[in-house]
Amino acid sequence: MKHVIVTGAGRGIGLELTRQLLARGDRVTATARDPGVASLVELSKQYGERITARALDVADPAAIDAFARSLGDSPVDVLINNAAITGNQESLNAFDMNDALKTYATNAVGPVLLTRALRANLRKGNDPRVAHITSGMGSIGENTSGGWYAYRMSKAALNMASKNLALEFGREGILSAVINPGWVKTDMGGAGAPTEVTESAAGILRTIDAMTAPRSGAFLDYRGERELGW
Ligand SMILES: NC(=O)c1ccc[n+]([C@@H]2O[C@H](COP(=O)([O-])OP(=O)(O)OC[C@H]3O[C@@H](n4cnc5c(N)ncnc54)[C@H](OP(=O)(O)O)[C@@H]3O)[C@@H](O)[C@H]2O)c1
Repeated sequence: MKHVIVTGAGRGIGLELTRQLLARGDRVTATARDPGVASLVELSKQYGERITARALDVADPAAIDAFARSLGDSPVDVLINNAAITGNQESLNAFDMNDALKTYATNAVGPVLLTRALRANLRKGNDPRVAHITSGMGSIGENTSGGWYAYRMSKAALNMASKNLALEFGREGILSAVINPGWVKTDMGGAGAPTEVTESAAGILRTIDAMTAPRSGAFLDYRGERELGW
């Protein structure tokens, strides 16, 4: 049984990852801004001690430190940095300093702070690995449509951070990779998205399981077919 930490676990892909991890027998620390959200209460009723719901706003450094302290020295096998926001701007005219910085804090800075805060726990883990849920929109090479400045910039920054973490943690045996979840039917992806959340989450978990040291630092896809271009 692995101990997996999922951020943004109250809804969307994070919730489905939590569901599937519990269904396959893992132990999940499911973090959310509101850990009392009905979806996690429901899973707690079903899975009892195998799920712990904890408060964590990934854009708040003090909350990250408090969360890490609450874990003590318990081993962490997998950290999934999933929580993110799109920001409210699609066009250059709508680009806004406060919104862009909030998006950057949530999508790029928070995941690095959380990974660093859990470094000692990961070191104690079994085959430890960190998966950062990125986006195809974070690829510079595959950007053909433009727009979404803050979101794209934040995910490109997350991609760089993951590669850095892979290099930094390599000698400690902790793997790091970014995984594109596809375009998924969630609040973020919208009802018109082609991928069901169950399919995306299953693919993400398969991809995490298949991570290896030689591929640490890679830009992976939930379908596991190929690595994306940076
Ligand atoms: N859906 C897609 O098509 C798609 C495509 C590419 C990449 N992605 C990526 O996949 C991941 C999950 O997306 P999703 O589709 O599940 O999005 P979603 O339905 O909008 O859910 C986002 C999750 O992130 C949480 N969150 C946002 N800001 C947070 C913060 N400051 N601290 C803690 N949690 C926070 C939300 O919690 P609250 O309930 O508290 O708001 C929610 O649980 C994200 O990294 C996203 O960028 C999604």
